[in-house]
Amino acid sequence: MQVGLLTYYFKNRSPLMKKLFFGIALIAAIGVNAATPVYLDDSKPLEDRVEDALNRMTLREKINLIHAQSKFSAPGVPRLGIPEIWCTDGPMGVRPEVLWDEWEQAKWTNDSCTAFPSLTALAATWDPDMALLYGKSIGEEARYRNKSVLLGPGINIYRTPLNGRNFEYMGEDPYLTSQMVVPYVKGVQSNGVAACVKHFALNNNEINRHTSNPIVDDRTLYEIYLPGFRAAAQEGQAWSFMGGYNLFRGEHASYNPILMNEILKGEWGWDGAVISDWGAVHDTRTAVSGGLDMEFGSWTNGLSNGASNAYDSYFLAEPYLKGIEDGTYSTKELDDKVRRVLRLTMRTAMDRKRPFGSMGSDEHVEACRRIGEEGVVLLQNRGSLLPLNLDKIKKIAVIGENAIKMMTVGGGSSSLKARYEVTPLDGLKKRVGNKAEIVYARGYVGDPTGEYNGVVTGQDLNDPRSPEELRDEALRVARDADVVLFFGGLNKSNHQDCEDTDRESLDLPYGQNELIEALAKVNPNLAVINISGTGVAMPWTAKVPAIMQAWYLGNETGNALASVIAGDANPSGKLPYTYYATLDQCGAHKLGEYPGHPGIDELGNKVMDMPYNEGIFVGYRFIDKNKLKPTFPFGHGISYTTFEYGKAGIDKAEGSADDVFTVTIPVTNSGSREGKEVVQLYISDKKSSVERPVKELKGFRKVSLKPGETAEVKFEIGRDALSYFDADKHAWVCEPGEFEALIGASSADIRSKVKFKVK
Ligand code: BGC
Repeated sequence: MQVGLLTYYFKNRSPLMKKLFFGIALIAAIGVNAATPVYLDDSKPLEDRVEDALNRMTLREKINLIHAQSKFSAPGVPRLGIPEIWCTDGPMGVRPEVLWDEWEQAKWTNDSCTAFPSLTALAATWDPDMALLYGKSIGEEARYRNKSVLLGPGINIYRTPLNGRNFEYMGEDPYLTSQMVVPYVKGVQSNGVAACVKHFALNNNEINRHTSNPIVDDRTLYEIYLPGFRAAAQEGQAWSFMGGYNLFRGEHASYNPILMNEILKGEWGWDGAVISDWGAVHDTRTAVSGGLDMEFGSWTNGLSNGASNAYDSYFLAEPYLKGIEDGTYSTKELDDKVRRVLRLTMRTAMDRKRPFGSMGSDEHVEACRRIGEEGVVLLQNRGSLLPLNLDKIKKIAVIGENAIKMMTVGGGSSSLKARYEVTPLDGLKKRVGNKAEIVYARGYVGDPTGEYNGVVTGQDLNDPRSPEELRDEALRVARDADVVLFFGGLNKSNHQDCEDTDRESLDLPYGQNELIEALAKVNPNLAVINISGTGVAMPWTAKVPAIMQAWYLGNETGNALASVIAGDANPSGKLPYTYYATLDQCGAHKLGEYPGHPGIDELGNKVMDMPYNEGIFVGYRFIDKNKLKPTFPFGHGISYTTFEYGKAGIDKAEGSADDVFTVTIPVTNSGSREGKEVVQLYISDKKSSVERPVKELKGFRKVSLKPGETAEVKFEIGRDALSYFDADKHAWVCEPGEFEALIGASSADIRSKVKFKVK
């Protein structure tokens, strides 16, 4: 418009007209600028907008911006029209609204969500496309509910099977986690909702979670515990991160100068906002300097615990303001925090182009079911007991509490108010219809509760019968059936798959082992469907022909499981962690310390020192090194069809570290059904100046094949796949020498190998 006016002005030379047009042009220019300040003008570069907003803010507004005003929100800058930031858990569905200052749900009636499968189930799909679908779908729900930040995904490494939150994470391997977290983050953020990747870092247990002090060397940190986070920050470009509760080298993780300043914001050049875990901040001084940008959930009056509506007393609230006013702190750190929070707001709530989202759509239901079906892992299937042959089977005994228990409620902050939940028993009944009779017996009582923060399942699972009565009924029902499906495992109550507590043993609870053995005796056609988010001991594998790892699969649990059990879907999941036979097979328990021993940290606080003596030998790395035989290895999972692997070939036998080596292998569906196989590539450094794992996962592809069909599966191996982290040099190093590419169907089932040399 201004250009047009000026052109006209120059064409019209009468002095009066000149003056008139000059005046109009001036007013128009001022008018445009006044109407659209730079920070609100989304045609301007993000950094200019951030700087403009920052320059308009008072000191108090800056302080207000960086701490909570309610359990899940921060106030924005009302005077400038900069919106509030609303967060929500995460990571498996959008949490119901809670009261302003309480955890209790607010009893809204429009906030029931789609509950998606647990993140271990997602990881078990070994399919980045599923992670993208997951992120996009959950992001749409968060967007529809007007949230700016989804508190997830969780990607802490599975160091011990006892960690109560393993179900919220993506397993034991840094490469698998990295490949799955990036599309999840991108999917969420395509909705203008920030992913908040948590819990950075080393938050690998729930027991003593506020005082755990993992003692980890740099190599282990960089090779095992950081790669997922780095991928999320750099490739995924996650807009926010959440710090952990635990300590690390003398400071809490949420404002840890090494983790946040040196690594995340320094080495990785990340420009997002660090959000504290809820109640993870304990001190103003270090929160100011340690790289924390937003404080949430402190539940304190600054002096003692338990004051409600204490937001002004948060460590980054009045105490920080006072400290700036009296010269204790400069505004340098504050401005950096404010810039990061503004960036977060502009990327989310201030993005006028972001989509509107959707909630509970058919697409989300479909996504939930697909991810569930693809995540289920068939662990063994002797005599092809599964899928059920419904042309022959007349009577099915369904035994076990988990066949009828709703699992979307419970487990801590990931607890949901799901729109509906199909239990395994209901899913089976629907699928089997009148093709066979289904008889149910509970077998044991585990956890009859079904309530979390005021959300109730509505199920009454109390059963007054004695354990003997329940067991006898189950055996009677099982004896009389053609096939027995036992649905057991863990649940979301304390000391199971649940936040804030760890499990107390690897064993299945509630006498399930004894019951399974007794069932196997009365009916050999037994399938155990284990519902859990972590590994359990299975001392009965020799006596049970079919075993399936089912996870918490959300709304569609029963439908997804029925579809796999009946064979509509062919299982294609692979274990994202090692299934240990005993805790002794896990490095954290055998060599490392868990849950640690009492110690005193650098500041004189009582902590639980937890040396990670097992170092980089986590999961299959420990199994390989010690030549152990777990119940089921990392990467394991079978199908209703079979796959044959041909001979692997490589494009060159020798090259430099900067070359890309291409490995190919033909994989054929040698069975009679269409199915999917996850082809895995592990790299082994044959000779190295430092001790290296026997092999490490560095590639995988999920291929879908019709009977008789062959795929040429291709992997590219670059420097990253060959390097280790040299702590002295503080750099990734690829040593020349001989390497081997191992390709297989699991970490313990290598089908072909090919050697190559790096000059
Ligand atoms: C959990 C976080 C969660 C937060 C908010 C904390 O207790 O550790 O993962 O996002 O609460 O509910």
